[in-house]
Amino acid sequence: METAIKTPAIADSTAWPHYEFPNILAASDRVNWRVEDLIGGGKRLDFSMPFLPESLARVEPLDFLSENERRTLNQIRAHDYLYIFGLVEEFILPFVLDHVRSALHGNEARVRAFLNFAGEEAKHIDLFKRFRQDFIASFGTACEVIGPPEAIAQAVLSKHPLAVALVILHIEWMTQRHFVDSIVDDENLDPQFKSLLKHHWMEESQHAKLDTLMVQEILRTCTEEERSKAIDGYLEIGSMIDEGLAQQVRFDFESLQRVTGRAFTPEEFERFQEVQLQATRWTFLGTGMSHKNFLAVAELVQEGAKARLEAIAPFFS
Ligand SMILES: [Fe+2]
Ligand SMILES: [Fe+2]
Repeated sequence: METAIKTPAIADSTAWPHYEFPNILAASDRVNWRVEDLIGGGKRLDFSMPFLPESLARVEPLDFLSENERRTLNQIRAHDYLYIFGLVEEFILPFVLDHVRSALHGNEARVRAFLNFAGEEAKHIDLFKRFRQDFIASFGTACEVIGPPEAIAQAVLSKHPLAVALVILHIEWMTQRHFVDSIVDDENLDPQFKSLLKHHWMEESQHAKLDTLMVQEILRTCTEEERSKAIDGYLEIGSMIDEGLAQQVRFDFESLQRVTGRAFTPEEFERFQEVQLQATRWTFLGTGMSHKNFLAVAELVQEGAKARLEAIAPFFS
């Protein structure tokens, strides 16, 4: 019978980014903010402004929509953003808790950094929910969403931990990219929504590093065979998410119809699908999959992963 070979050499190679738990913990303690300071009381969303940057929303190519309708679609997409981030954090939270629980003694900075990570994700779930409540209260029309989150979380968590950790790493770098590439310099966004994106980015910056360490730790426990299937597992979760996104785009079209009261032609529906499916794919899949830091770790997990993912990423751009 063939004996499984462990891979400590790969997991401990000096090619890995050098992140340290005490520094990450210190940054997390410094950044810490409260949900109450971002939403609620006098702090409300301003529906006269767009919420998402155009590079993620891609409403401008839809020239059969008026300016007001394009802004409304931008806001429907922002509602998806709140919901989908809340949804993915539903599986990140238990995954990180399970991971830290596997070694609770001996490295206090590690335990505290991972517990902060989990606590911050629980806070983000609350943050996204409260923004959604404010959105729903003002928007006036229900926006249907995919789910339920628990079922999606269960489906993702049924995959190998190495694949799940890679998906989480993708999500963390994706959040960094959204803010740095398209939000920080955008002066036209609603200040409240922009503040949410900024504060999320501030804490996710530590998560991206912790996730890299988490992938590295999980890799130390994996056999060659498990490692060789990691990218396949990551892509399987990706295609599951992609199916959900396609359904979400159909819901968004229905929401837009409901709120504008317009009847669109079949050609307009087709154009909407074409532009918005790619916009949604870019937002949640392409921006993470093609992030250079994510690709670097994927390559350390499995040789050839970078080229493989770079060949697939344009499908989500
Ligand atoms: Fe988060
Ligand atoms: Fe995170």
